[in-house]
Amino acid sequence: MNARVFLLLTTLAAAAPALAAPSQVHLGWQGPTDTTMTVTWRSTEATGSVEYGSDASYGQVKAAVSAAYQGSYLHEAQVTGLSPGTSYHYRCGSAASWSADRTFTTGPTPAAGASFRFAAFGDSRTDDAARAQVRAAVQRSQPAFAIDSGDLVDSGGTQSYWDGWFATMEPLVSATPFVSAAGNHDMGGGLFFAQLALPRHVPTAAGYDDEAYFSFDYGNTHFVVLFTEPAGTSGDAQDQWLEADLARAASDPDVRWTVVSFHRPPYSSGEHGSDTGLRQRWGPVFEKYGVDLVLNGHDHDYERSQPMVGGQRAEGGVTYVVTGGAGAPLYTAGTSAFTAFSRATHHFVEVDVTANTLTLEARDVDGNVFDTLTLTHPSPLAETPATPGPTPGGSGQTETPVPPGAGAASAGGGCGLGGGAATLSSLLAIAGIALLRRRR
Ligand SMILES: [Fe+2]
Repeated sequence: MNARVFLLLTTLAAAAPALAAPSQVHLGWQGPTDTTMTVTWRSTEATGSVEYGSDASYGQVKAAVSAAYQGSYLHEAQVTGLSPGTSYHYRCGSAASWSADRTFTTGPTPAAGASFRFAAFGDSRTDDAARAQVRAAVQRSQPAFAIDSGDLVDSGGTQSYWDGWFATMEPLVSATPFVSAAGNHDMGGGLFFAQLALPRHVPTAAGYDDEAYFSFDYGNTHFVVLFTEPAGTSGDAQDQWLEADLARAASDPDVRWTVVSFHRPPYSSGEHGSDTGLRQRWGPVFEKYGVDLVLNGHDHDYERSQPMVGGQRAEGGVTYVVTGGAGAPLYTAGTSAFTAFSRATHHFVEVDVTANTLTLEARDVDGNVFDTLTLTHPSPLAETPATPGPTPGGSGQTETPVPPGAGAASAGGGCGLGGGAATLSSLLAIAGIALLRRRR
């Protein structure tokens, strides 16, 4: 929650109906992912706290920061001093009314040998039923946390849309930490930043909310979330922060992988298409610091790019994935010279990270895999199993075959070029050809 927005909202005289307390419970981070957890919820009580411990008897308590919000109260409690890689029971609320018992798990101690799974998705707005299907599929995947590339709701300035989002997403985000980039539909009234507990960038920058862009480490991976609503201008405070942040991560021996997420895609063949301004502005920075994967949305489909450098397919390039299928009306999935695979379907992306591999699987609402990609690290760690792959000095990129009949498709019923790209990739994978990637 942004402090300025929070204070502003305390002054609002809202007339919304009272909520059953506590509700809209969700998890986030405002500190290290291995030792902290922030719990946020709404209720009709003016104060609240989180009780937590190794079992449902709890034993520890953290008072929340509370403020009037939309006719109720919004509470936010950052629990600190937790043990890494540990599951805790918790409940939130007050003596007047407690939430159900829930659990969360802290992240692993940052280390190069860490392994974990995260989920990514975006554009969950509009269709509550489709969003619920995607959410259920993500739950079955059991990720350590989830990252959203934005456009959670139709109209970010209207609380009823957020109430609908929480109604479908709470089963996931009350048990799984959730972070999000902001999309164009999320803006208006500051409700996005008021309700979500997100990391903050330092130093603060005029023109950007404190939580608009940020980074965090989880295990052996550095995650960066950027702001595109609006994105500001080339060389501004966000860009200066990004350069410094990626430089730090590139020199951290615990960081094996870097993943970046923001809303508008530098590479997309959907209805919105590529944001070439962002491509030209941030692409060289990603390439300079060896960013492995960029996750975007805005186009309501799935599209994975070839490894890209300077706008061209190139070994060692950055992979861009549009994952905008979490509920919004599907757009036709197109193809371009940079496309490796595209499909219009409601979906999410499951990513398994180890010391030596980063494996992405695009899954539909039934959990079926329709696209995969494995990146192999150029400097394998001896203590982890050997992975197929790279020539010394460069990391490998391997695309595995999609199921029969699972070629790229569009909402309109088919897209031959995309399917062809996938088929060619599959043949390359079958032939055991690993595409080399440059790595830091
Ligand atoms: Fe959008």
